[in-house]
Amino acid sequence: MKITLHDGPLAELDTDALAWPLTGGPALSETTEQQINALRNEGEVRGKPSELTIVHQPAGLNARRLMLLGVGETLGEPQAFRMAAQAVRAAQSRGYKHLTVAIPNADLARAVVEGCAYGGYEPPQYKSDAQPAALEKVTVSTTRGEEAALKSGRITGEAVNLARKLVDTPANDLGPEEFAELAASEGRAAGLEVEVLDEPALNKLGAGSLLSVSRGSVRPPRLVRLAWAPANAEGEDHLFLVGKGVTFDTGGLSLKPAGSMEKMKYDMAGAATMLGAITALARLEAPRRVSCLLGLVENMPSGSATRPGDIVRAMNGKTIEVVNTDAEGRLVLADALTHAVNLGATHLIDAATLTGAVSVALGAVNVGLMANNEALGHHLVATGRGIGENFWPLPMNEEYLDAMKGDLSDLRNAGANRQAGTITAAKFLEQFVNDTPWAHLDIAGTANLDKVVPHAPKGASGIAVRTLVRAVEAWPVR
Ligand code: BES
Ligand code: ZN
Ligand code: ZN
Repeated sequence: MKITLHDGPLAELDTDALAWPLTGGPALSETTEQQINALRNEGEVRGKPSELTIVHQPAGLNARRLMLLGVGETLGEPQAFRMAAQAVRAAQSRGYKHLTVAIPNADLARAVVEGCAYGGYEPPQYKSDAQPAALEKVTVSTTRGEEAALKSGRITGEAVNLARKLVDTPANDLGPEEFAELAASEGRAAGLEVEVLDEPALNKLGAGSLLSVSRGSVRPPRLVRLAWAPANAEGEDHLFLVGKGVTFDTGGLSLKPAGSMEKMKYDMAGAATMLGAITALARLEAPRRVSCLLGLVENMPSGSATRPGDIVRAMNGKTIEVVNTDAEGRLVLADALTHAVNLGATHLIDAATLTGAVSVALGAVNVGLMANNEALGHHLVATGRGIGENFWPLPMNEEYLDAMKGDLSDLRNAGANRQAGTITAAKFLEQFVNDTPWAHLDIAGTANLDKVVPHAPKGASGIAVRTLVRAVEAWPVR
């Protein structure tokens, strides 16, 4: 699917369908607007968010169809993104070859291009009767040629889809080694420095916490480092993006019941998110130093698995009693965060499908955000709000750490009860960042969609990639 720009008049455009937002849409000819107004007056179209109406052989247009899209009361970047993705999906499902999306001004061009790419996402294909997608071309029609927005939108949208593809790939085809190889090849292709640490290297580093998780699996762990250090980097800040990459989470010996285990191939979504974000930043040639660490393990029960009650030593020297082998994400992140601090991180952001509790608290609507630094947390919330990704801050009082203190050890990896499970997990992580400004994104409730929505199918949502890319572009944080 090719995305191009067009800045001429809309009426003459030869296209299978012209997608047009019912709020804030660019001017059309009088005859076309009359036809739309008649539909409005009849109550046939109302312009509610995600409403979609197709008018065949529309008046005053060369386009074969007019696709009217409701966006609600205003057309900002969040609405433009979703509208574009929905239009592309609608065109795909109807077998159109050429779709045009009309927007009123070039300020929305990047969000629309991102939405078009997002809507064109092709999940990994395992069906025997798979058909190639019919949609060949999407044209974004805007007031002026906005080549920069086309490029940044395409790069960001494709990075989101890379993350989604990894998340949707089943764990039999994507273990820690396969993920690491893919991250290395994607990283190199984007112009990043790449280093892959294997089990002996992790042993040498003293990553006893991360290694306690992979011990039960026949598939060895990996820690991938990707680095973007452009010659024109502005300032001394060095942000590290750290991702939880549990390629499958059975729970280990604290085995999950079947119903909770079914979807656990998506427990590597944090790592996929960070890989997507840093490859986009490199392709966009962001003038900032950014690195990425992906902690890749498979959490399996076996004769060699870590037992509940085992005490392990993390890379920073702290001892942890593993009271529940299903609270494994924090064990992986503990060492990845320590490694980032040791490598000179000035700022840290991690993303992880860390707790079931975050979907109890926030559902699939908001990412849970916890930070030790208000400015960094606020920067992410505000950036997300601007483009339609929601992050909600949760409190981080010292008292929440009490649940994570060990009897024989410095820490335990799970509390004695389920109270504030998302926050106590974050307090555990905080023990590994020293005083480095840090924000933690719990994406367990938002990384995977349980049902189709107008702008996306079931499965990986790609949440947070776009926000992270823009948050780095809008650096520094104050
Ligand atoms: N990967 C899970 C969290 C999760 C749950 C992600 C549901 C996506 C959907 C994580 O490793 C886990 O199992 N956490 C436990 C922690 C508990 C044992 C303290 C949980 O949330 O139940
Ligand atoms: Zn788990
Ligand atoms: Zn997990």
